[in-house]
Amino acid sequence: MKPFDVYSVYPVNIENGKGCYVFDSTGKKYLDFYGGHAVISIGHSHPHYVSKVSGQLQKLGFYSNSVEIPIQKEVAGLLGELSGYNDYDFFFCNSGAEAIENALKLASFHTDREKVLYFSNSFHGRTSLAVSITDNRAISAPVNYTDHVEKVSWEGLDEARAKLKDRKFCAVIVEGIQGVGGINVAEPQFLEGLSEMCSETGTCLILDEIQSGFGRSGKFFAHQYSSVKPDIITVAKGMGNGFPTGGVLIHPDIKAKKGMLGTTFGGNHLASAAVLSVLEVLRDENLLENSMKMGQLLKSELSRYDQLEVRGLGLMIGIDFQQDTRELRKKLVLEQGVFTGSAKSPNTLRLLPPLTIGEEEVQKFLDSLSKVLE
Ligand SMILES: Cc1ncc(COP(=O)(O)O)c(C=O)c1O
Repeated sequence: MKPFDVYSVYPVNIENGKGCYVFDSTGKKYLDFYGGHAVISIGHSHPHYVSKVSGQLQKLGFYSNSVEIPIQKEVAGLLGELSGYNDYDFFFCNSGAEAIENALKLASFHTDREKVLYFSNSFHGRTSLAVSITDNRAISAPVNYTDHVEKVSWEGLDEARAKLKDRKFCAVIVEGIQGVGGINVAEPQFLEGLSEMCSETGTCLILDEIQSGFGRSGKFFAHQYSSVKPDIITVAKGMGNGFPTGGVLIHPDIKAKKGMLGTTFGGNHLASAAVLSVLEVLRDENLLENSMKMGQLLKSELSRYDQLEVRGLGLMIGIDFQQDTRELRKKLVLEQGVFTGSAKSPNTLRLLPPLTIGEEEVQKFLDSLSKVLE
């Protein structure tokens, strides 16, 4: 047997990681401006993370959710404190797509409605409902097609209002910053307008912060640049710094029947130790502030290139080139030792580095970019 062929890959075997860098099997060093797809928030092999996860593994890796798991309460408590959502409940699961499925299920149960509104250029995952609200038919199969979902233009408030007024929608779902769609920041007025419409029509507002959350935007959640308080927030990726984990923040008014949500692995001892250590490092090393500061530095340095359009908040940055960036990204990896990300449009380069980068890493990235652009 061999692994199922999923993505096209670089001919590089990454064996080690330390901070903002990874190393291949020949010992070659690479700057990770991709963060393993927005996953590495506190840096590779952070000593606190390693010690907390390995310490937990030595005691107990897993026991089921049929017993009390006190470390889950620590995670939820600290997450509430750092995010400002102390009054919400937290459902633990294992991935982003699973968080989306549970968020939609909750909204549907709460409102007793079945339709979901989503936006163009969205990406919410690859499981059945998540992919049906992802604006990319190329990654869906017939079993995923459903009449329960409707799409409107990105930031199309009037279109959304026209759909929501018949009160058939259980939820509107929106990314705090569209990631795969090309780093499109949801403007505060757009989110505030949407939130108002949702309150008027009894629709749940779901903020997908799977990629933009856990400090990546410079705030704990990207929607916190606005005054909006969503009914439901989905998280994953940077939350576990590589440990597969996800979750749903749930407004206290939204209730589920006991047993309606459930999970075998979600919130297990090991996953909870990983998330707790991520939260502790975000707090103790002021990583939200660093994300904001380094993001501003990167954007201001990149603004010197007239031919580039730069967007984003914190360390979630999109750069639009006038041409396809595939060759450029390959050269960055193979010639300069720098990983970056792609987006839906091949002309867009995505930067999602660990939130721990400093001025040295920003400079290294800029030097490498200027070399490949020569
Ligand atoms: C905004 C957003 N939502 C959901 C997902 C799905 O997350 P996962 O790959 O963990 O299922 C992703 C993954 O890229 C994402 O960027």
